[in-house]
Amino acid sequence: MAEMGIFETMYTARALRRFKPDPVPDEVMSKVLDAAIRAPSGSNEQSWLFVVVKDAEQRKKLGDIYRKAGGILFALYQNRTKPAHMAQSTFEKLVASATYLVEHMGDAPVLLLACLKQNPPTVPPPKLPPEVADKMRTMARTSGSSIYPAVQNIILACRALGLGTCLTTIHMFYEEEVRAVLGLPPEVQTYAMLPIGYPSGKFGPIKRRPVSEVACLDRYGNPWK
Ligand SMILES: Cc1cc2nc3c(=O)[nH]c(=O)nc-3n(C[C@H](O)[C@H](O)[C@H](O)COP(=O)(O)O)c2cc1C
Repeated sequence: MAEMGIFETMYTARALRRFKPDPVPDEVMSKVLDAAIRAPSGSNEQSWLFVVVKDAEQRKKLGDIYRKAGGILFALYQNRTKPAHMAQSTFEKLVASATYLVEHMGDAPVLLLACLKQNPPTVPPPKLPPEVADKMRTMARTSGSSIYPAVQNIILACRALGLGTCLTTIHMFYEEEVRAVLGLPPEVQTYAMLPIGYPSGKFGPIKRRPVSEVACLDRYGNPWK
């Protein structure tokens, strides 16, 4: 297969949630993982861990947990209105697609868990001066910043290799159960569960709010033309 250009890859890597049952060859998954580890990470620590789940029984267990987490997601959605920029029909399609995945996560040929080995981000390392420790606590929002670039590489590599995938996070409602299924030690936290397979649906194009609505020049309120 000819290599895809990076922009075509980015512009067509839609979230895909329906997959053919065909297995994903290990060589192809190795390419996806090799793209993942090219991502940047804080201090270049590379404390990531990727768990590739192919075993049907393991996938079923994770699928059952994801289905349970879907129950919480839908309870949250009951109180959520659609984003202002989104047409009602688009929102309904999104909910239908997410609902499908809740029921079928375990059927995807591969489930890829993207994890980080670290202490909980709100617990500062010992022996730090108090003012530094205080700053560390305010940094909690960066907790995923050393794994999500790798996750985006996975999404793009999948697209370039003809695979579909979708970043999901709701398994974290029951993370302890996921950890037990995977046998993860306490210092490893999960950040994303990505179903991967050859898609039943079509890639792209990706539609988003225009740059003019979401970018500023120099200061807030001064739009980027
Ligand atoms: C942080 C994050 C969490 C997400 N969690 C879920 C999820 O739990 N379930 C799901 O079906 N999709 C999930 N998605 C996928 C989004 O719904 C999807 O990226 C978005 O609707 C854009 O889709 P598109 O690229 O096909 O336009 C998540 C995406 C992100 C970035």
